[in-house]
Amino acid sequence: AAQWPQPDPRPRYHFAPARNWMNDPNGLVWYGGEYHLFYQYNPHGDRWGHMSWGHAVSRDLVTWEELPLAIPETDVMAFSGSAVVDRRNTSGFGRAGKPAMVAIYTGFDPVTKNQSQYAAYSNDRGRTFTPYGKVLDIGSSEFRDPKVFWHDDTHRWVMIAVRAIENRATIYTSPDLKHWTHASDFGPAGARGKNWECPDLFELPVANGRPGEKRWVLSVSQGDNGPGGGSGGQWFVGSFDGTRFTLEPDWSGEPHWMDAGADFYAAVSWNDVPDGRRIWIGWANDWRYANDIPTYPARGLMTVPRVLSLRRDGSDWRVVQAPVRELDSHHGPIRQIDHIRLTATPTPLPLPGDSADATMTIDPLDAKQIVLTLSDAQGYQTLVGYTPATREVFIDRTRSGPHFHDAFADRHVARLPSGTGSVTLRLLIDRSIIELYAADGTRTITDRFYPGKGPLTWAASTTGGSADISRLSIAAIDPAASA
Ligand code: FRU
Repeated sequence: AAQWPQPDPRPRYHFAPARNWMNDPNGLVWYGGEYHLFYQYNPHGDRWGHMSWGHAVSRDLVTWEELPLAIPETDVMAFSGSAVVDRRNTSGFGRAGKPAMVAIYTGFDPVTKNQSQYAAYSNDRGRTFTPYGKVLDIGSSEFRDPKVFWHDDTHRWVMIAVRAIENRATIYTSPDLKHWTHASDFGPAGARGKNWECPDLFELPVANGRPGEKRWVLSVSQGDNGPGGGSGGQWFVGSFDGTRFTLEPDWSGEPHWMDAGADFYAAVSWNDVPDGRRIWIGWANDWRYANDIPTYPARGLMTVPRVLSLRRDGSDWRVVQAPVRELDSHHGPIRQIDHIRLTATPTPLPLPGDSADATMTIDPLDAKQIVLTLSDAQGYQTLVGYTPATREVFIDRTRSGPHFHDAFADRHVARLPSGTGSVTLRLLIDRSIIELYAADGTRTITDRFYPGKGPLTWAASTTGGSADISRLSIAAIDPAASA
């Protein structure tokens, strides 16, 4: 049988390891000019197993250099976790003038199934780690994914982890990264799923609030029952006093999803970004089919790093996501088109099929639906669309190929706030992934698709009338060419 797809060229500006399996981003920290991206990695194969920490670094969050394995599997697998720079040398792991990078992660014992928190430290900019050992064990087989950060007001370390099956986030504090004291729990709340994983907790300014107004965001992923049908993530807004996260008093019980697509999971944010931005990155996959996606020699891809901000939206809240601005400096020449009339007859769009960043405003006029169709040489199609009557944007993979899992062929929808009818979309396309940003980044849909060999082409059409695309701005992206 034909191998499907043909060895897939790596996406150009989304990180994937050269080979083997990758899942969650781990240990995101900035240190000495480098953004570190560690990740769940199987050094021995292209399916989940032998979990270890892989490692890549970047100076601009776009061009990544893959480095040797950082934390290998030992008697325990190295599950997800975080990294901090211990500037005050609270742990004693540092050297004079050279703070240690400390990784705090879950050690999973495959024999007893115990999950407890481990520390390891690096004195060489994350290149190699010295194991310190277990720092927190509550005798549980579902206690994982510690995110650690320094809390200035209380002058101590905070860890947020999950009690996964209970759908609970659990908070601990420590003076030295070695001794941890339970502080409080949060959840279940919002949506339930099997299981809560990869929590994060960080403060954001309220973009449209009073000067200096801030809130804390608690985010958590869940393996199933997400908005795309499988893995997804939600966030909550509230306050955090160093001990307890408290929801906004009028918080609605409705889930607030990170992304409406199927392929945005385990998103966590960088510690210590020097200009104060809060940037996170997600694993572009869904546990329903992650082990079966038709790519080789690597299986697993990250999204583009996204800057987060927070906005009050009437009585509710929105986390706003935007691709990091560093992406702009990898744009090829920008092509601007003022106006394209769309009808039922498909109009070719001059979008590079391969890797592009495109922004467009769609004026629906009297059309019932506007569809941008991405076709591959095999005739498979992935659709990006807008339905004005319901103000819904969508990505439709029901005609994407090949068939490798029933859950893959689906349509993922985000409803936009009510407005004038026209909608501005930003599309990041990169060989086998589409990230759709709508309504100023208050809605995103992230979906992978798996084209075979040959060119990809775009066309746009309508049903039920005609529509306009105005202000179409298109740039090809190729970091290798611009580096
Ligand atoms: C999330 C997750 C984490 C765990 C890791 C294991 O995708 O299940 O909860 O630490 O993957 O690889």
